[in-house]
Amino acid sequence: MSDYNQSLLTSDVLKAFDKAPTPRLRELMTTLVKHVHAFAREVDLTPEEWMQGLNFLCRTGQISTERRPEFILLSDTLGLSMMVVSLAQARASKNTEGATEATVEGPFYWPGAPDVELGADIAQGVAGEPALYSGTVTDVAGKPLAGALLDIWSGDGEGFYDVQLSATPSMQARGKVRTDEQGRYRFWSIRPAYYPVPDDGPVGEMLRATNRSIYRPGHIHMMVSAPGHVPVTTHLFVKDSPYLEEDAVFGKRDSLVVAYQAHPPGIAADGREMKTPYHSAEYDFRLAPTPK
Ligand code: BEZ
Ligand code: FE
Repeated sequence: MSDYNQSLLTSDVLKAFDKAPTPRLRELMTTLVKHVHAFAREVDLTPEEWMQGLNFLCRTGQISTERRPEFILLSDTLGLSMMVVSLAQARASKNTEGATEATVEGPFYWPGAPDVELGADIAQGVAGEPALYSGTVTDVAGKPLAGALLDIWSGDGEGFYDVQLSATPSMQARGKVRTDEQGRYRFWSIRPAYYPVPDDGPVGEMLRATNRSIYRPGHIHMMVSAPGHVPVTTHLFVKDSPYLEEDAVFGKRDSLVVAYQAHPPGIAADGREMKTPYHSAEYDFRLAPTPK
């Protein structure tokens, strides 16, 4: 087919979407077609490569279950999830300047974590070195937000989430904390370790075939919210963690990297007596106003 006829093919396919019921559906489908046609032409895609790609997508579907969302992992590892997260944050508020950056939610959020008192230990016995987390939640102008909610979850100090350690897990390293009148929060958990994304499926094959990292650097997840403000789903990253510069899902943001301070046994900043060495991590979250 000549170059001219390849272009005609693309415009025929675009026209086929003329009767799409909404302009948005039409835009999504026609723009997708334009890009996949341009991709095939740019790389001069062969039938064998195309079949290999289709076979990969087919296997990605076949391995997927509710607990094993391989297509989401594909989106994560191609950076598409992070792109959508970033677009959503920019769209949600005209005033995101100065707000804490959002990052991927990932597959291990478990709604319904227990409400705990300020200063409580949410680790619930998971492996790992203790860490005291503290800081504030403010608006983008620095005004403290009292009663802001932090819904927190992480893996343990060896790189495993509670849901990976048992077929019938109970919640560990998860909890909900609310800020005090001055917008301050604090809680204990552990310093999380790096871990691999699920790599025994087609996405793992793709990462290995392209010599990419299968790891995420150590991080703790949180959803931070307060009335009248745009909630943010984010992480704090452990500054000296391996793989900080090779996050398999491109979730790491420099603004979210925290230097954990190491402490010998003794009295911690919140007055708790620690019989073992421990860490502390401080971070101030900033929320953008909900658009009027
Ligand atoms: C996580 O942070 O737990 C995660 C995020 C994306 C893919 C896999 C794991
Ligand atoms: Fe995670």
